[in-house]
Amino acid sequence: MEFPIVRMRRLRENPTLRELVRETKVTLDDLVMPLFAAEGISKKQEIKSMPGQFRFPVKGLVEECKKLRGLGIKAVILFGIPKHKDPRGAGAWSDQGIVQQAVRAVKDRVPEMFVITDLCLCEYTSHGHCGIVSGKKILNDPTLEVLAKTALSQVKAGADLVAPSDMMDGRVGKIRETLDRNGFHHIPILAYSAKYASAFYGPFREAVESAPEFGDRKSYQMDPANARMALREVELDIMEGADMVMVKPALAYLDIIKRVRDRYDLPVAAYNVSGEYSMVKAAAKNGWLDEKKVVLEILTAIKRAGADLILSYHSSDFAKWSKE
Ligand code: PBG
Repeated sequence: MEFPIVRMRRLRENPTLRELVRETKVTLDDLVMPLFAAEGISKKQEIKSMPGQFRFPVKGLVEECKKLRGLGIKAVILFGIPKHKDPRGAGAWSDQGIVQQAVRAVKDRVPEMFVITDLCLCEYTSHGHCGIVSGKKILNDPTLEVLAKTALSQVKAGADLVAPSDMMDGRVGKIRETLDRNGFHHIPILAYSAKYASAFYGPFREAVESAPEFGDRKSYQMDPANARMALREVELDIMEGADMVMVKPALAYLDIIKRVRDRYDLPVAAYNVSGEYSMVKAAAKNGWLDEKKVVLEILTAIKRAGADLILSYHSSDFAKWSKE
């Protein structure tokens, strides 16, 4: 059958019919809001390269979580900005670390908020790398111990789920084993499995002051040119016990999201990262893009590609707009 019998426009004429046949709908259930907890500040500070995003003191973060919950946001992922950084990233696993404090406060005051902790060292190390450094090398195996310790301290503080974003080999297995040994077999792991060495993380690194002091992250994060390698990363993380896997960034990697979705049956997350957010904000500020429409289109595209959940700085705006 073909034109003139077939007319694709028939299903597009009526707005209700368009809704009835819509294949993909983003809802608040799909979204996770990233938040930054900073040590040693008393008022929230706007992050210059990420308009509308803030570094929060613990108290402010709790208030923000209450507000988000009221808007219908059910999950957050927390990042920490410690006052002091050192070569081993001791702030990452300290029970008094900024993320541990933040998790405790949120779970205490807003218990219904689902709290994910980003699990990495780069926010806590003076050199800004995601692992233990010797000379100019980022050491893999010695880092695993530290990551496992960090995971345990985050979970003890009350994290509902941990998300390792360091890209060391073998970290998922090590974290799983450590959590299980300590009675936390019920806590799931969301692995940043296909995490690319991307320039789209620029604004985030300004936010947490984690730009590497020397070199770059290419010896551990993936080459943007590789897709098949992402499938191997995912496969290995699944074998090590990941409950969910992530593709990051999202927009320039929709093909990766799709391939992971097609090949594996566990939930797939996508991280709509800082640079993707800032581009939209900058263009909207100039009046070059309609922010609301563009954000809905972006989130819909990420979901259509196959993401079950989306980590996005747009989540709170999306929630506000959904209420209007
Ligand atoms: C930590 C981490 C990064 C992001 C999430 N976790 C930065 C990086 O790898 O340099 C980036 C998030 C974003 O850009 O929004 N390793």
